[in-house]
Amino acid sequence: MKFVRFLMKNAALANAPKHIEHFAKFSPSPLSMKQFLDFGSTNACEKTSFVFLRQELPVRLANIMKEINLLPDRLVSTPSVQLVQSWYIQSLLDLLEFLDKSPDDHSALGDFTEALVTIRNRHNDVVPTMAQGLIEYKEAFGKDPVTNQNVQYFLDRFYMSRISIRMLINQHTLIFNGTTNPAHPNTIGSIDPQCDVSEVVRDAYESAKMLCDQYYLGSPELEIEEINANTLRQAIRIVYVPSHLYHMLFELFKNAMRATIENYEGSRSLDPIKVMVALGGEDLTIKMSDKGGGVPLRKIERLFSYMYSTAPTPQLNDKHRAPLAGFGYGLPISRLYAQYFQGDLKLYSMEGYGTDAVIYLKALSTDSIEKLPVYNKSAWRHYKVNQEADDWCVPSKEPLDMASLRATK
Ligand SMILES: Nc1ncnc2c1ncn2[C@@H]1O[C@H](COP(=O)(O)OP(=O)(O)OP(=O)(O)O)[C@@H](O)[C@H]1O
Ligand SMILES: [Mg+2]
Repeated sequence: MKFVRFLMKNAALANAPKHIEHFAKFSPSPLSMKQFLDFGSTNACEKTSFVFLRQELPVRLANIMKEINLLPDRLVSTPSVQLVQSWYIQSLLDLLEFLDKSPDDHSALGDFTEALVTIRNRHNDVVPTMAQGLIEYKEAFGKDPVTNQNVQYFLDRFYMSRISIRMLINQHTLIFNGTTNPAHPNTIGSIDPQCDVSEVVRDAYESAKMLCDQYYLGSPELEIEEINANTLRQAIRIVYVPSHLYHMLFELFKNAMRATIENYEGSRSLDPIKVMVALGGEDLTIKMSDKGGGVPLRKIERLFSYMYSTAPTPQLNDKHRAPLAGFGYGLPISRLYAQYFQGDLKLYSMEGYGTDAVIYLKALSTDSIEKLPVYNKSAWRHYKVNQEADDWCVPSKEPLDMASLRATK
């Protein structure tokens, strides 16, 4: 029996490229916040969600798996990237088991939810494992601008795809596990239709403050200001995933606190971190300002780079690293969370003074639609055509000596 299972598993594995090819032909279907809410409302239908996900999850997995294969061979063949790839293949195969099951089969629905939990757990360590793969690659081959561009393009899309897949899995497992969350009875899966933005700001501040106090024995104060252009005296609320917002704010607070303290001169008191939340007709904007000395413009783009992380490279099992800075993925991943529902995250810095980090979200839930990568010809071209020389002159380090040029004419 064991042997038969072994044979079947191997046959399934051998067929994996065929399945990837098949599902990568479909484009992912982005969901709007409204659709997410409908899936979870009182007339939520587990069967509909099951039928949608057993197709959509393989499509999202397969689309991004096609792109893994376009990375430089020397990166794909690192043990860490191989491991990540094997997780993706296994999860795709797990989902295919459900293609011929009837949605009326009660036990199939139960098995499906269980399979989703298994998949989610299997992929828990994708980010640090991918980061490890990049470290292995950099140690062996160094870093060059073309690879950096490709890796940046790929990882932004890969992690965005991962955020979206986890969102779909979380919604299904949370909504159809038969219990409601007593602490947050109004949430629909992981979405809060009435998310109080300043409350999440304060929560994220408190967690970052705890780390900061532990590490530096002190932390800057928080000042919050809210401007609600629509209804002046009401707290600003939004239909959003509080855990995503918390993630972004927590990362920004850790950075702002670290900069404030490291830029601190003993003679004056620690400058507070100021957060302003503004709600307009289209945007909900959160600006976090610190007086942590800022970053020169030339380096801003690099702060969002996976390849040029400024942080020392922590090992996966390193328990003693500084709690306020890790892989250097804080900013790029936070930007992805903001972009996932069509927002953005930007840094505006004044070197010598401080930094404003701004999170833009869509004020209206009808504008909040998943932003998803799709594998197609133009994605493919990004990996293949990008290898050309820069079309802007590279300034030489030494200024030209015009006098000597004239003398030689
Ligand atoms: N508000 C800020 N003021 C000054 N420098 C900043 C600020 N925010 C970010 N930086 C710089 O950008 C770098 C990258 O930030 P990022 O959050 O992406 O990674 P990290 O903080 O090094 O590690 P982690 O992954 O734990 O967040 C920081 O190491 C820091 O040098
Ligand atoms: Mg950080």
